[in-house]
Amino acid sequence: MNDVASFDHLAPVYAQFPLEVSDAAGVYLHTPDGRKVLDLYGGHAVAALGYGHPRWLEALAAQARALCFQSNAVPLDVRRRAATKLARFCGLGLDTVFFVNSGAEANENALKLACKMTGGTHVVAVEGGFHGRTAAAGAVTWGADKKWYGFARKPFDVTFIKVTDIARLGTIVDDRTAAVIVEPVQGVAGAVDLPKEFLQALRDRCSENGSILIFDEVQCGVGRTGHPFAANMYGITPDIITTAKALGAGFPVSAMLVADHVAARLETNALGTTFGGGPIACALVEAVLDVIESERLLENVRRRSAEIRERCAVGPVVGIQGAGLLLGLRTSHPAKEVQAELLERDILTGTSADPQVLRILAPFVLQSEHVEQLRDALLRISR
Ligand SMILES: Cc1ncc(COP(=O)(O)O)c(C=O)c1O
Repeated sequence: MNDVASFDHLAPVYAQFPLEVSDAAGVYLHTPDGRKVLDLYGGHAVAALGYGHPRWLEALAAQARALCFQSNAVPLDVRRRAATKLARFCGLGLDTVFFVNSGAEANENALKLACKMTGGTHVVAVEGGFHGRTAAAGAVTWGADKKWYGFARKPFDVTFIKVTDIARLGTIVDDRTAAVIVEPVQGVAGAVDLPKEFLQALRDRCSENGSILIFDEVQCGVGRTGHPFAANMYGITPDIITTAKALGAGFPVSAMLVADHVAARLETNALGTTFGGGPIACALVEAVLDVIESERLLENVRRRSAEIRERCAVGPVVGIQGAGLLLGLRTSHPAKEVQAELLERDILTGTSADPQVLRILAPFVLQSEHVEQLRDALLRISR
């Protein structure tokens, strides 16, 4: 039974940070008791522009005043503009965009589309991958079965592979295989940038076999790696990219970008959503991509990432992995302890599935002084 005085009616499904946030500005969170906390976690990689970016606020207010909502049945210029902007930002020829609301929903649609167009009943996923908590996305999430997958049956057969399984791909990806889904830089696993040869082998095998290669860039996409998408960074083009998080930089929106040969199979009623592609979400996608381009934030992400790698392998940090501002700091003692010690020094970071890896998912507007703040705090923590 919950104690009545402390019962707040919220489902008790989240461990809570020992931190109440009242508001935020730039890259700092403010607490009711007057603390100013450097946010290197960005609400699970969402707050890409930090807090209170004027262009984001203006886009939100202007679109809310002009038209708060109309469904996908109504043609909207702002929706067409957002789709064009996103396809051009990606630049890989995945030129058809379907907007939905969350990362899991984007993956659910991508997997459904792959199964429908290939007739396949089998999906290959990668150990360590996280794809969301819905029926299909959860089915391809590593470890979900043991932890929280609640459905009696999965919508398709699933094989999890390791990055060392390249030589076995010829038999694992077979004529039943609708799709291979992979996070090119794994987020929840601890910012693990997968080897290029592995991703290229997936690309080659999918092309050979007619299976759909899905890059789940929900966490690592939209500039997070210092490139438009991790696909651009690796120079490998999948058939579908799913993305979310930084895409709305605080407004819920996700998208699926598909190649022409996949788009050719889309027809009226093949996919659907009520809220996806709403005008406010689309206005924010347009604004976020505008800001990333006009403020040269891809370059900023690459610079800050290099600084963190150069300056922050100190104190309890024994190694740094990942890409851009999706970094994993490997720690000499449990990452949870280092996270708590950093929070005591007013820096918020994340943990990961790897108990020795602390995750940095900082806003793209991070500056050198913030990297120094992290370094100073780490230096004060014993190894
Ligand atoms: C790579 C990846 N895919 C999918 C998801 C699921 O996204 P959502 O929580 O928006 O459904 C996440 C969430 O952390 C993610 O990191």
